Amino acid sequence: MTTLIRKEGEMSNVKKLSIIEENKDFLADEVHQYFVKNNPGYEFNKEFFRRDVHMICDIICGDLEVEGYVSPITFADEDTKSGYYNLNRYKSSFLFFKEQNQESIEAINYTISLIKSISKNEVVTPVLGTHSQVIDNERSLKPEQIEEIDVLGSLIVSNAGTSKKRTPYLDMMEDYFDKGFIHTTIPENIYPRLWEQVHKTKWVDATRSTYKKRPDWYHENEKHYMDPTMMDRPTYEKLFAKEVFTNTPPDLIEIAEDLIKDPMFDYIKMFRPPIPEVKCVHFWNGSENSPHHNDGVDGTDLMIFLYLTDEEGWDEEWGGYINMLKEVGGKFYHTKLILPIDGTMVCVNNSAPIFKHGIRDLKYKDKNRYTFIFHYTWKF
Ligand SMILES: [Fe+2]
Repeated sequence: MTTLIRKEGEMSNVKKLSIIEENKDFLADEVHQYFVKNNPGYEFNKEFFRRDVHMICDIICGDLEVEGYVSPITFADEDTKSGYYNLNRYKSSFLFFKEQNQESIEAINYTISLIKSISKNEVVTPVLGTHSQVIDNERSLKPEQIEEIDVLGSLIVSNAGTSKKRTPYLDMMEDYFDKGFIHTTIPENIYPRLWEQVHKTKWVDATRSTYKKRPDWYHENEKHYMDPTMMDRPTYEKLFAKEVFTNTPPDLIEIAEDLIKDPMFDYIKMFRPPIPEVKCVHFWNGSENSPHHNDGVDGTDLMIFLYLTDEEGWDEEWGGYINMLKEVGGKFYHTKLILPIDGTMVCVNNSAPIFKHGIRDLKYKDKNRYTFIFHYTWKF
């Protein structure tokens, strides 16, 4: 992490590393040698170890500075300080310190004590001396900041193990940002409320699409089949979404708002705070029939598909399934056929056109395939 120095009223391109950042390699060497000396015969991955020491530096540097703040290390304001943004961001990524055994905790504590010495520009006598300590009294931290390092150090010790029991939510977020979708199930508190909507809806036959039925308040999207408006697609999709949203029952919108509050979306909210806003709700019985496409033209960031059926499972030959893929450079990655089994939920990253989905129409019209699609936009 670099710290920009800015004089009053002007931006400067002068960059100055914090004293901790400057000594990262020295710290990694020193803690590693200390560990080897004190734990002869202990088998561990040296690169993981060095990386974890670097990460402790990053956490401390990051949480002592305001993100992107353009002055030498200083206290963040109270709100930011109490948030420990970098600690929360990195704590699940420790590879060696996640062990939380006596040896690894001792190594963390030694790292913290060295960081404190370095922050005070005290000379550390190196065990090995591959990298030299950088001393710069102008960059010493203030006593209250040194105290804060202790607080952060304790929090790192107690949180380092979170990556040992890696939360499935983190796996979900990796799927979301890498594959472009999360295939999961509808949360238990949401599922019965969706069925309630199915039962209370006044259904009418669909006439202008491949759907079986639609709620009486819902309009079929004709743009897939013809262009009665002569509008360009983004304009049409946005207007269509807006019109449908105006007619959507408030209690159905409430379900969409409650769904995004589920803890599984906490990781998304860390990067896209505070709470994604519901922009559009679709609801029908049956299925579209569309080639692989991305729905980003409507300007929303996240789409959640939710399926309810009366069936025990779902047979591929009934149709109504979706196929997910990521297309880059004419190649397909992470292709997955997802059957609309009752209770299925698919969260789709709608913010990048490389993420696509194709839909097969419902072949067996005696089957019900209730489809909800909630669209969300990051709210700033
Ligand atoms: Fe779509």
